[in-house]
Amino acid sequence: MKRVINYSAGPAGIPVEVLEQARDEMLDWNGTGCSVMEVSHRGKEYDALHMETMDLFRELAGLGKDYHVLFTTGGASTQFMMLPMNFLGASKEADYIVTGNWAKAAVKEAKRYGKISLAATTELEGERFVSIPRQGELKLNPAAEYVHYTSNNTVEGTQWHYIPDVKGKSLVCDMSSDIFSRPLDFSKFSMIYAGAQKNLGPSGVTVVAMKEDFLLKAQDDLPTMLSYKVFKEKFSMHNTPPCFSIYILNLTMKWLKKNGGLSTAPKATTPVWQTWIPAPG
Ligand SMILES: Cc1ncc(COP(=O)(O)O)c(C=O)c1O
Repeated sequence: MKRVINYSAGPAGIPVEVLEQARDEMLDWNGTGCSVMEVSHRGKEYDALHMETMDLFRELAGLGKDYHVLFTTGGASTQFMMLPMNFLGASKEADYIVTGNWAKAAVKEAKRYGKISLAATTELEGERFVSIPRQGELKLNPAAEYVHYTSNNTVEGTQWHYIPDVKGKSLVCDMSSDIFSRPLDFSKFSMIYAGAQKNLGPSGVTVVAMKEDFLLKAQDDLPTMLSYKVFKEKFSMHNTPPCFSIYILNLTMKWLKKNGGLSTAPKATTPVWQTWIPAPG
């Protein structure tokens, strides 16, 4: 069979081994006599898969139990809103670094919930972005609750090759299009998030990893399904989770682990201060 690779927008390839396993287990998953889509999400089989998937994420990222792994829905785009809704409010401020159109989309949502400063923007005329700011170019707001950036600018093709030093502030990163593509010191972040569909599995689940000390600062009085604290307390099972997406996420991370984890990812060959200039015309 000829496999085709999608280089266009949206979801990316899933390892063939993972797809084959999902195919083989479609009618009888784990001896249950049903597919993973048909079992109770309150049953012991699904519960074990769910908790194992959180542990696998922590293990691959090299994070300890002081990080909570949450499975949310609504894509990474919902995190653009959930993050400021949980941590900002009329009198609170946050810093955003704008290096592409997804970073800009995150700012647009955050402005609804607090005062947003741009610690840096590399936007050129005509909504073009071709570079990543240097550390010295970041203008950090001492009053910011957190600093948000986008590690890989999916549309523009630029990627951060260093983790910004935010002088003790909580660092939050949208890693939707490069998560687990390279080794990284994930412990430098208070929160990372990624829609699974590029690097980790199918759409339908967004993975959020949040450090306990940051989570404690989240607001309490929020709609149940938009509260990080509820996701943590209920292990992302306040309502029915996207079981099939989490199952594929589980298989993909096991595949990654079997193949050596993140340390076997290809090393970046571009310089630390990466600048991508499009060809003329
Ligand atoms: C960096 C980045 N952030 C956010 C998004 C939006 O993700 P979603 O479609 O899961 O809302 C994308 C989608 O391509 C992306 O590449």
